[in-house]
Amino acid sequence: MKFLTILFLTLGLAACANSPKQSLYEEIGGTSTLDKVYGLAINRIYNDPRLAPHFEGVPKSHLRKMLTEQTCELIGGPCTYSGKSMQEAHQERNVTHAEFYILVEHVQQAMRLIGLTYAQENRLLAALAPLKKDIVYQGE
Ligand code: HEM
Repeated sequence: MKFLTILFLTLGLAACANSPKQSLYEEIGGTSTLDKVYGLAINRIYNDPRLAPHFEGVPKSHLRKMLTEQTCELIGGPCTYSGKSMQEAHQERNVTHAEFYILVEHVQQAMRLIGLTYAQENRLLAALAPLKKDIVYQGE
């Protein structure tokens, strides 16, 4: 009996060790959490006079859907981003480094308000960071 208990415990531990690591997407609650984060972030972005001029004529709902889909894909979710490439979407806009960081800060604040942990915030931002080179105007 004792032998069986030990056997089951050992197998159980081995199964835990081998189980695939949960993606950040699953960990934060998937698309519904991302949609809330971007809903909040986009309101802040459109209300920020330093950023608002860029977004004139860009429908909030479209941007929210695209950002949610893109981040979903980047953090291990089951989505396929269907929007423009980052170069295509931003190249004519001369986005500055400063504007990039202001926007990212709104996304960070939104994550905090929605209740993501500091570690989750950092992991999500790390997934967005490689996009910077295609968003910021290279002449900067
Ligand atoms: C982490 C930073 C950023 C990410 C992940 C990001 C991502 C995106 C995505 C996914 C789209 C949708 C593309 C489509 O419509 O198919 C988009 C569009 C757009 N982004 Fe960004 N972006 C970022 C930073 C910025 C910044 C800093 C600005 C300007 C201050 C900006 C201005 C715009 C504008 C104006 C559009 C609409 C383009 C259009 O409809 O033609 N973005 N962005």
